Amino acid sequence: MELSKRLQQLPPQFFASLVQKVGAAVAQGRDVINLGQGNPDQPTPPHIVKALQIAAENPVTHKYSPFRGISELKEAAAAFYKREYNVDIDPLTEVAVLFGTKIGLVELPMAVLNPGDWMLLPDPGYPDYMSGVMMADVNYETLPLIAENNFLPDFNMLSEESKERAKLMYLNYPNNPTGATADLEFFNETVAFAKENGIAVSHDFAYGAIGFEGIKPVSFLQADGAKDIGIEMYTLSKTYNMAGWRVGFAVGNAQIIEALNLIQDHMFVSLFPAVQHAAVAALNDNQTCVQELVDSYEKRRNVFIDACNRIGWQVEAPQGSFFAWLPVPAGYTSQSFADRLLNEADVAVAPGNGFGEFGEGYIRVGLLVDEDRLEEAVQRISKLDIF
Ligand SMILES: Cc1ncc(COP(=O)(O)O)c(C=O)c1O
Repeated sequence: MELSKRLQQLPPQFFASLVQKVGAAVAQGRDVINLGQGNPDQPTPPHIVKALQIAAENPVTHKYSPFRGISELKEAAAAFYKREYNVDIDPLTEVAVLFGTKIGLVELPMAVLNPGDWMLLPDPGYPDYMSGVMMADVNYETLPLIAENNFLPDFNMLSEESKERAKLMYLNYPNNPTGATADLEFFNETVAFAKENGIAVSHDFAYGAIGFEGIKPVSFLQADGAKDIGIEMYTLSKTYNMAGWRVGFAVGNAQIIEALNLIQDHMFVSLFPAVQHAAVAALNDNQTCVQELVDSYEKRRNVFIDACNRIGWQVEAPQGSFFAWLPVPAGYTSQSFADRLLNEADVAVAPGNGFGEFGEGYIRVGLLVDEDRLEEAVQRISKLDIF
């Protein structure tokens, strides 16, 4: 049977080939240090696991969830935003519970755009944004993120036509893959730009908890008037090492949230209630686990970046997220450098071109192995005598 046109136009999963190459190397018995992925390596904090166990033993959680999620989770999301960012959220109208934010990012264009409409996407950016574009059959234009501009988009670069036709924009800080962060001034500018041009904004705050040197990443909703035009997607995957649990939420503009809830009414019956109760525990209970996690990523970052600079690889430390975005040496492309590291040093990294045209010339390293392995990865690279 032929696949639908919609499925036929889906982009190839760029990272499938990386997974395949790493798998083949491991199958040969090679000790690959895998820095290519974005999967948190540490376990979910025990009090959250306990909350799931307790909730799963209560037969009430074995029934269907309310369509739009349990009220406790929406209230916890609102309380979290008040406590962490001093942002007021109405749990009834301004929260959509999500099976992780990937689904929210993919379904949002289907919920608020019509086929042929235009949206703006960061480049480099999280590859699944493109899946949303293709599923909704919309057009996109990229916002280049370059080092000279601290990996923030320059809205002045857009033509009048682009500004006029764009209806939705995705942003993501702390940024995957560049590790850059945004400040409140940038988000205020974004709100002004979006209002002037009638563009809705969805800010992907997946790495919202992970900022270094004591700097807490800013929420887009802290910008004046952000809720008039935008939403923010927040996942528990990174903040609480809950990637496999599939739980997150969107908060902000009530009309956009209603659109997300409406499309979800027709696709899901929300999450397993016990997972929702565990998410409530994660958001409401002691947050020491989050600080410990950020500290561990910061230590890894420092060890890795220092080691790179010691071998003569001039790289910048990320300000947030758990990724480092490293320029490839002269004479290499992202792909040829990544291939050389895997083939000759048994170090897997993600080639930057997989994140978009403006990712060419970089590789992305996930700080998702312990410090010893990060040191060893750089040592192996140093033996290639590239730097
Ligand atoms: C930038 C970004 N956004 C969203 C996600 C999706 O996270 P989840 O679906 O687990 O909430 C990821 C996951 O890696 C990510 O890197």
